[in-house]
Amino acid sequence: MDLKTCGVRPQTVSKIVDLHPLLRLDGAAILDGAECGEQASRDLARQIFAERTLAVPEAARVFEGGEYDSARDRVTNQIATPAHTDGFAYGDLYPDYMMLSCIRECATGGDSVLIDGYEVHQQLLNDQMLNWAGQALATTVIDQTEQHMQTALSPIVMDNGRGRKMVRKTLEQKPAPTSVDPERDRQMINIWLDTIDAAFEQAPRFKLHPGQTLVVDNYRLLHGRDAYEDLQRMLWRIWVWTDSALGVPELPLASDTRHAGVSS
Ligand SMILES: [Fe+2]
Repeated sequence: MDLKTCGVRPQTVSKIVDLHPLLRLDGAAILDGAECGEQASRDLARQIFAERTLAVPEAARVFEGGEYDSARDRVTNQIATPAHTDGFAYGDLYPDYMMLSCIRECATGGDSVLIDGYEVHQQLLNDQMLNWAGQALATTVIDQTEQHMQTALSPIVMDNGRGRKMVRKTLEQKPAPTSVDPERDRQMINIWLDTIDAAFEQAPRFKLHPGQTLVVDNYRLLHGRDAYEDLQRMLWRIWVWTDSALGVPELPLASDTRHAGVSS
């Protein structure tokens, strides 16, 4: 496998109209020069997705792991955050786009990484030894539920019902309780996770600068970042549900997991 083709280096543009072709091509692009802030970045999301916008909840401050995310204890500036999908606490109804608006960058480390999940899946399908796993990823129901969050019993590679492919990498993908072959499913999951982690090592790095907003197709790309030193590094994260999402959760929404829990 040539995992170098799985890394994405997003192009930078200064006009919203130029973003869309790049989102279709690469699954991500950087918009330079738009105002960044809690409200400004939400307004920007509505401008970018226009009439396709279904929900743009309150933004979340991202610094050393975020304010409210339940997985925060596993995130630290001192180690890299592996490539992942955002919003999987909402189960299958995770947001189809995410944006990061940079307020303060850090001089050392903290570079962003994007991995094309469609390409990873295709490479597995193309590989003689791993083709079985590539196929199973789209057909095998596994448990993708984050602890105490919305239940997600579904394949890692899904369809939104209207031809848009959804891929996911979460913290806790494991064989479903109803699995007929948990050992095989565990192997499939490990191949998916290991291939993405290997692609992460080889992927190009890029830095977001203040005043830049990264827009990511969260159905297609997985994102992560390198370790960093400056604890003042700060970005605003915005989750976006558009009319090509599988659906919008019937729950209070935010751009982090604060409302995604299952009340007991
Ligand atoms: Fe994230």
